[in-house]
Amino acid sequence: LDALVEKSKQHFIKTFNSDPDPLYKLAVEHVESVEKWALSIATNYTETNLEILHVAIWLHDIGQFVTDKLEDHAQSSEIETRRFLHQIGLNQIDIDTIAHCVRAHRCRDIMPISIEAKILAVCDSASHFTESTYIDMARRGLKKDVIAKVERDYRDVCLLPGIQERIKPLYNAWKNLLRVYPCE
Ligand SMILES: [Fe+2]
Ligand SMILES: [Fe+2]
Repeated sequence: LDALVEKSKQHFIKTFNSDPDPLYKLAVEHVESVEKWALSIATNYTETNLEILHVAIWLHDIGQFVTDKLEDHAQSSEIETRRFLHQIGLNQIDIDTIAHCVRAHRCRDIMPISIEAKILAVCDSASHFTESTYIDMARRGLKKDVIAKVERDYRDVCLLPGIQERIKPLYNAWKNLLRVYPCE
């Protein structure tokens, strides 16, 4: 791993380890699963700056562990990303590029524009289909929320062509699972 990526990874692990909430125990597994998706998608976009992408991947959810959990973590993660990258002396252009990826990863009020930001947003959504996010939410009684999340994630992978087709069998499988899941 590149030194900057490694520093970002260590900063994320240290920050999330300081959070006592067991709900977040899967945070590192989540980021690793986003990285796996990113590796498989970025090869199709040779213009991708992989260092920028991987730093953004490690920092995109960090705001969940530094502020009030009700706050939009795209915003709090951007603030923490800028603070951390400035502190370790990264140049302003790279800070802005990484901060954009982090800020836009939820595709809500700000949409991803750069290729690195689009790959992060797509991989973040795609990763939910290949980890335990949805079943964990259903288990906690959040069936309505999780059904809406599956739809949002499936919509957001559209940012890059071909990914929705790849995800489709998983999308259908999760919808079927949630339909018969015994709650609410
Ligand atoms: Fe996130
Ligand atoms: Fe995420």
